Formats: sequence, structure tokens, C-alpha cells
Amino acid sequence: MTVFWKSGLVLPIVATTIAAGGFVAPAAAVEVTYASGVVGAATERFKEIVKSWEEATGNTVTFVPMPASTSDQFAQYRLWLAAGNPDIDLYQTDVIWAPQLAEQFVDMSDVASDIVDASFPAIIESQTVDGRLVALPLYTDAPALYYRKDLLEKYGAAVPKTWEELTETAKLIQDGERADGKGDFWGFVWQGNAYEGLTCDALEWVKSFGGGQIVETDGTISINNPQAVAALELATGWVGTISPPGVLAYQEEESRGVWQTGNAAFMRNWPYAYALGNADESPIKGEFDVTPLPSGGDNDSSAATLGGWNVAVSKYSQHKDAAISLALYLAGPDAQKERAIKDAQLPTIVALYDDPDIAAAQPIVPRWKEVFMNAVPRPSAPTKGDYNEVSSKFWSAVHETLSGNGSAADNLELLEIDLDDLKGSGW
Ligand code: GLC
Repeated sequence: MTVFWKSGLVLPIVATTIAAGGFVAPAAAVEVTYASGVVGAATERFKEIVKSWEEATGNTVTFVPMPASTSDQFAQYRLWLAAGNPDIDLYQTDVIWAPQLAEQFVDMSDVASDIVDASFPAIIESQTVDGRLVALPLYTDAPALYYRKDLLEKYGAAVPKTWEELTETAKLIQDGERADGKGDFWGFVWQGNAYEGLTCDALEWVKSFGGGQIVETDGTISINNPQAVAALELATGWVGTISPPGVLAYQEEESRGVWQTGNAAFMRNWPYAYALGNADESPIKGEFDVTPLPSGGDNDSSAATLGGWNVAVSKYSQHKDAAISLALYLAGPDAQKERAIKDAQLPTIVALYDDPDIAAAQPIVPRWKEVFMNAVPRPSAPTKGDYNEVSSKFWSAVHETLSGNGSAADNLELLEIDLDDLKGSGW
């Protein structure tokens, strides 16, 4: 039996029992293809991480880079899967996709019991549809408010706890920096493009204002309410004032571009930006820190949207054994540890939050355990196969509002009518 685990790094017990689970290299070496969106250092990191699996099994992996936008990936994958495409063996899947693509993926519950036992139960649950474990978690995601420590100090300002404070402080710093000659400086950058990322940002504004989570866990459509209106009104006021007009086309990487070149006081982004911002060549290395996102209105609790990525094996793969073996390796403790240390990606294996190497390399990881454990899920579970449409209707209504096409109140009222139609007699 060929065992490919480099066990003993951090979780010898988990690693050994997973290895003992009997994942062996197939008799003849094969080439498997892995499709994944590319954000930050994703391509380079993937190639580094799969190397030990390739060496141990003799198999090779071809990486198929996809657009950064999760919405674009979803559209393409849905087409490929509907056509029964055998060319892609594994897909890197967003946390929200499981209910919509479940039938096209292989059930891994029997082979992944060691990973399941070592993981946060809620994350495993999010990838389990009708008792089938359709994707294995690679990392979880919960955003942070990034802020420039040096600039808060320069302007004698505190870390903002509310969106209203953030609005004021961003303006103060932006005005000061521009007066100092930095014409390109902005107060706050975030993700305003019309795509899934805007659903994440806007859900945070709405939920942190006490306006619910678009569709509640029991399936009730809750989005048309005064707190949600107030949240969107505040955010609309940012566009062209503390945030560049171009923010309406920004995804994660565009906001990171402005931030990491030193041209923004605050940024909303996921933990991957922490590792990149502290890289040796980064102009803001050591100058920033992170804090949970603010709360808003009269509400005093903040909200972070739950993100995260998984690996699924296609039902149409002609190399299922090798593909499953690769999925188990990528979701296992060694690969998760490497991703945490190099990219600050939050593990889904519980014990890694106590790992001293991770804490030393990326202090955000242990600090963010509580943030992701309290993160708000998007309504993909209650809306099932309709989630993508629910989300695209939501992000469109928000994008229209931010663009000045209709008021928040009118757009949310129309959204509610649309969602009611979509729901019909039930999701
Ligand atoms: C991050 C999250 C993912 C989310 C995406 C939106 O990649 O992990 O869940 O859908 O951002 O842009």
C-alpha cells in the first residue's frame, strides 16, 4: 500500500488514521484536472501543495485556472456539469454551492470520516446534502475590517466600532492625506461589483444594522425592512465620497490593489489579504491590523458573512479514485496547515487553531476563530436550488441602489416582490 501522507506535522493522530483509511495510489499513474478560481497567490500555492501528493502517487495534476469571480465560476461549472463534462475531475467549490450542485458530485462520506471527525461540524454540515458529503472543506473564510495603524495614530483616531464612525474616520484621514498631496488616497475600499461578493458585503451591512439575512433560516423573505434600507442608504453615501466611484466595479483583488499600494485607510476583505499585505514586497507591511467589521444603526452587533472553499469530485470523472485521493489530501491537516501559514487561510480542522506555527506565522488565524464561528451564512440552505437567483436578485438591487438608480426603499420593495415570485409556494 502506498501511503502519501507526510504525517506528524501537526496532527499525527488524524493524519495517521486517515492514512490507515487506505487511500492508495491507483495502479497506473493518471493525470487529474482541478478547476479553481484564482485570487491572490492561488495558482502558485496550489502547485506547491500538490507536489507531495504527485510525488507519492506518481499521478499528476493539471490546474485549470478560472476567473476570480465566484459567480463566473459557478456559471461555467454549472454548464460543464450539466453537459456531463469528463475533462474536469475536481472542482474547487464555494461554500454556498453544495445544495445546487450536489447531484453532480461524488459522495465522500464513507472515505472522509477522519476528516469529518476532525472538522467543525457546521462546516461539514454545509457540504452535506441529503446525507451525502459532496465536497470536503479546504478552508473557511470570514472577513475583517483592515485598518492602517499608522494613519489612525497620525490623525488621533480610534478603531471604528460602528459604520457611522468608520464613515467619519475614513473622511478625516482621506481629507488629511489628500491635503498632504496624496490625490489618489481613499477612505474605504470594498467589493461593489454586481456579483456574489456584493451579496457578502451587503449582507454584512444589513445584518449588522439588525435588518436580518435576506431570507431567514425558515425560508421567510425578510429583506424589505427599515434597518436594511438604512444600511443601504449609508453605503450609497460612500460611493464617490470615501470610496472611489470605481468601487462599483471592484471585486476582492481590485480593493486589495488600492489598499496594498497604500492608497486606502480601511478595507473590507477576507483573511488572504492579511498574508499578502504583510509580504516582504508589500508597501504596507507591518502598518496595518484587522478588527471585526463594524455594527450599524442602533444595533450593537457586527456581522461577517461566512465564506469558504471546498473540493468536490465530479460524478463524470474518469479517474475517481485518484480524484478522491487528491481531495482527501488537499482537505487534510498538512495541506490545511500549509495554506494557513502561507496564505492566512482559516483551517476547518479544529486542532489547527492551537497550532503554534500557524499562530506565529499568521496571528489573524487564531484571532479569527471566533469571528468565523459567529459568521452569518448566506441563505443557500433555505433557498436550495434557487440560491444563485436569490443572490443575483439581491446583489442587483443593491448595485442599482449604490449606483443611484432608485432609492433603497423602492429597490428593496421590488426585490421582495421578485423573491416572492421566485419562491412561489415554497423554496
Ligand atoms: C470569498 C469567500 C466566498 C465568497 C466570495 C465572494 O472567496 O470565501 O465564500 O463567495 O469571497 O466574492
